[in-house]
Amino acid sequence: MIDHLQTIEDRPVWQPAPQAVRARFDRPLPRKSRDLANVLSDFRSHIKPYVTGNTHPLFMGWVHGAGTPVGMLAEMLASGLNANCGGRNHIGIDVERQMTRWFAEAFGFPRDASGVFVTGTSMANFMGLLIARNEALGQSVRADGLRAAAAQLTAYTSSQAHGCIAQALELSGIGSRNLRLVPVDAAGAMRHDRLAAAIADDRRQGYLPFLIVGTAGTVNTGAMDDLHAIADIAEEQKVWFHVDGAFGALVVRSSCSPNACARWLPASSAPSRLPSTCTSGRMFPMTPAFSWFATQRRIGARSPTGPPICKERLVGSVRARCGPATWGRTCHGDFAR
Ligand SMILES: Cc1ncc(COP(=O)(O)O)c(C=O)c1O
Repeated sequence: MIDHLQTIEDRPVWQPAPQAVRARFDRPLPRKSRDLANVLSDFRSHIKPYVTGNTHPLFMGWVHGAGTPVGMLAEMLASGLNANCGGRNHIGIDVERQMTRWFAEAFGFPRDASGVFVTGTSMANFMGLLIARNEALGQSVRADGLRAAAAQLTAYTSSQAHGCIAQALELSGIGSRNLRLVPVDAAGAMRHDRLAAAIADDRRQGYLPFLIVGTAGTVNTGAMDDLHAIADIAEEQKVWFHVDGAFGALVVRSSCSPNACARWLPASSAPSRLPSTCTSGRMFPMTPAFSWFATQRRIGARSPTGPPICKERLVGSVRARCGPATWGRTCHGDFAR
């Protein structure tokens, strides 16, 4: 793989797998063992040439994250140890706890905030939703289920939020019909006047608003919601506030010029007011795909002054252009759906 990365620029960004290669992956379950060298040779000939292309410097087909050689090393070490951090007495747990504290510090959360690595931002957002559900209905909902709730829960996010938010409502059993998609302004940010109106309307009709999901860097355009304004509404309405920071949460640690960041300063200082947030390793830091983090703290808990703040306008920088026309899928889809 090191050789592959060193010479990657000499090869095309992407090429289609020939039918004969695809057919190799449609064979019956093998009944005989093969030696490892043989399997590796298959990898070299039939897999490596036909991947997405996201590690190529000219790849511009959406936001896959490229990965890095340091990430490769980390993966090898982690697989070598194959640590199970679900319990027992070993150092892996200290490493994870340290990372949790570092993330908490980076986002201005209190030192005792909890956090965990999960498989992706979809899962991190799902966890944020479950925490909000428990907060609204009490821990008994875990045993009693949603039918014991006195009123129907409703959640709020912008019409530009990633599709995984609706999916989280579906997975939780609350139902995506109970997710209100709040309209956005010309910059793609959630309109907080419409948010407040939607919550008030639902309360009048007997619903139980329990969660607002803000977005720091939308998947379609990189738009940043006004997190401070939303936090005000969440506090006032006593509704859990979670931020999907897949792209944007890490700009909180960016150090670009104060002029460039001024516009985003209010939004980026908001993590210190968040009950929960999540961010992605594969987008800014380019860690191997699907290493992510979610963290939360309870409503009402206050942190000291937040960390150094945001700095960068995201719009445009994350909107990747389409790769070769033959790339095999439309690159102009709406990823919020
Ligand atoms: C803003 C946002 N949220 C959530 C996700 C979902 O992340 P994952 O694919 O890791 O589940 C993405 C993916 O691009 C995203 O851009």
